[in-house]
Amino acid sequence: MQTEIIKIDRENIDKEALKHAGEVIKKGGLVAFPTETVYGLGGDAKNPASSKAIYAAKGRPSDNPLIVHIADLEDIKKISKNLPDLAKKLSDAFWPGPLTMIVEKNDVIPYETTGGLDTVAVRLPSDEVARELIRCAGGFVAAPSANTSGRPSPTKAWHVIEDMEGKIDVIIDSGRSLLGLESTIVDLTVKDPVIPRPGFITESMIRKVCEGVSTDPGIIAADSNVKPKAPGMKYRHYAPSAPVAVIEGKEDLVTEKIKSLISDAKAKNQKVGILCATENEKLYNADFIIALGCKDDEAELAGNLFDAMRRFDHEDIDVIYSEGFSREELGAALMNRLLKAAGHTVIKV
Ligand code: TXA
Ligand code: MG
Repeated sequence: MQTEIIKIDRENIDKEALKHAGEVIKKGGLVAFPTETVYGLGGDAKNPASSKAIYAAKGRPSDNPLIVHIADLEDIKKISKNLPDLAKKLSDAFWPGPLTMIVEKNDVIPYETTGGLDTVAVRLPSDEVARELIRCAGGFVAAPSANTSGRPSPTKAWHVIEDMEGKIDVIIDSGRSLLGLESTIVDLTVKDPVIPRPGFITESMIRKVCEGVSTDPGIIAADSNVKPKAPGMKYRHYAPSAPVAVIEGKEDLVTEKIKSLISDAKAKNQKVGILCATENEKLYNADFIIALGCKDDEAELAGNLFDAMRRFDHEDIDVIYSEGFSREELGAALMNRLLKAAGHTVIKV
């Protein structure tokens, strides 16, 4: 398949081009598009064949449900039933934005889209290109992240091109995603809402609207007996090809430990990659060092993580060592993704 790549400037949106991309989705085709979190791989959420095509393009197990993207607040009512009052409170507080709500689905959304579940994940993105595309596509766009299953989520168009060129109809290129980590998911189908995937909308932000909310312990646990609530969280994810280990502890002990790990790896002729805070970049003598951002700026650190993972894959790195970062607030989302990439290999110092 020939993939059409369309550049769209967020400052000066070409509506005709998005109309064309919307028609492609309406006819059952697939379009990768930018959102403020990561790039999505979009198809018509009401069309079972489109959802099947999404799973095929990603190489994703079809029991892993897709998020349905909408462009207007009221549209959640058209695809759900028994919508709790809390959904309205949360959407007033955080939509458009990086929050996905799981609610009961109605018959408009087929089981092919929800991986056989009676619930549906719904998100209203803030990215203007995304919203215009969703409107042009009929209002309901099923979209997982636009990466091959198991690879890091795409935050730049070249990440999508790398994974999806030749497999889908259109890729819309609008530069880098503003945030760079997938949306926070909150499950409203249980008595006390649970966050199965942390993100930029943190637990404490949600608690201001909903006191009883908690984070699913399965997401941080290394213990595979704790089953994560979002089906997608159980798969190996976000990982570069080389093994990753995270070194956590007091900062000077962490940097000393990483220096000694670098020496050990070099003695074995291994090519070493390092992920660190900008402040520590100069301390290491490794083959490929990526500074994610300043250590107190979790938004910057999180926003650069997936791009860093992909860059390691282009450097034939044998082993990657990462500094650990704060697990507070947004740090919880960052460390969730980093620890998954590391398969929970943590060295405590
Ligand atoms: O930021 C995002 O959410 C991005 C952009 C494109 O919007 N999308 C995204 O989709 O990250 P995906 O498919 O890569 O991750 C969706 C997660 C998966 O872990 C999936 O298992 C979970 O949401 N999920 C979707 N529907 C669900 C449902 N009905 N019940 C429980 N988990 C669900
Ligand atoms: Mg994904």
